[in-house]
Amino acid sequence: MARVLSGMRPTGKLHLGNYLGALKNWVELQKEYECFYFVADWHALTTEYENPSQIADYSLEIVIDWLAAGVDPNRATLFVQSWIKEHAELHLLFSMITPVSWLERNPTYKEIRQELKHKDLATYGFLGYPVLQAADILIYKAEYVPVGVDQLPHLELTREIARRFNHFYGECFPEPKAKLTEIPKVPGTDGRKMSKSYNNAIYLADDEKTIWEKIRTMVTDTNRKRRKDPGDPDKCPVFAFHLAFSPEDVRQEVIEGCRNASIGCVDCKKMLFEHMMRELSPVIKRRREYAGNRELVMDILAEGSRKAREIAKLTMAEVMERMGFSLQKGELEKR
Ligand code: TRP
Ligand code: SF4
Repeated sequence: MARVLSGMRPTGKLHLGNYLGALKNWVELQKEYECFYFVADWHALTTEYENPSQIADYSLEIVIDWLAAGVDPNRATLFVQSWIKEHAELHLLFSMITPVSWLERNPTYKEIRQELKHKDLATYGFLGYPVLQAADILIYKAEYVPVGVDQLPHLELTREIARRFNHFYGECFPEPKAKLTEIPKVPGTDGRKMSKSYNNAIYLADDEKTIWEKIRTMVTDTNRKRRKDPGDPDKCPVFAFHLAFSPEDVRQEVIEGCRNASIGCVDCKKMLFEHMMRELSPVIKRRREYAGNRELVMDILAEGSRKAREIAKLTMAEVMERMGFSLQKGELEKR
């Protein structure tokens, strides 16, 4: 089985955008690949270094979200980046061979610095973000990395670092490929991009009642002011949710009913809620179970971290050998 690896930064609880955009895909991939999924807590630190105290809480919360979504700890290996010190060691070695110019021209780096202008991101660690990401990926010699398009520059850098390492010290790292998927995108309840900072997100940690309240009050096609006005589903955030959750016949019914004003928005939202719950009820139930058993979640992470560390250690031994550091091997233990 080919190896897949992906990580998420623990900067908050996960919402439906994260679920549809990444988690559902993670769940699918575990059927066909050997999957490694990890909490990128050091990466969270690159932007949250002034207030790192929440990172540990969020780390556990997002793993509970993963498990709720159907990530199966018996199939996939789940772990925490900062528990595997080898990531930091490989990051350091990669930092020796990575030209600063590669990092400075990285478009994701420039974009995020623009977006987070209120934060001082002129740090060494933030510039080196993709170098740490390359270490995360290459230490497991992962073949595929499921990520969003915003991460493609980081993956390209990972390949460049792998190539440069192999060129200097001999063939060691395979070049990983991105795994992009077509995903239905859902907006937030106000029609803007779903984001915790806009206060328009539906969370995996929300219960049925909360989700219905959010759907009930969600904005619709703003031209459809009265029940008898026809609407346009393509201009309606509610319909974007139908595309993500409802079967084809329901979508057709909504398109027709909306365009000829034979259904009202409340009817439409009720239909949506029913189909959302068909998918999300088991997720909500599982989430409740895992949230009530944090010891179990910690055990899963400890077990996954042990497995990940074994592989990371083997890669590091190979790296040291290739770089000519083999003199150190066992010398300390001997003396
Ligand atoms: N940079 C990724 C993100 O923000 C998170 C990440 C860190 C990652 N290391 C990774 C993703 C390794 C894939 C592989 O989404
Ligand atoms: Fe949107 Fe549905 Fe109302 Fe049409 S009927 S405007 S798709 S909520």
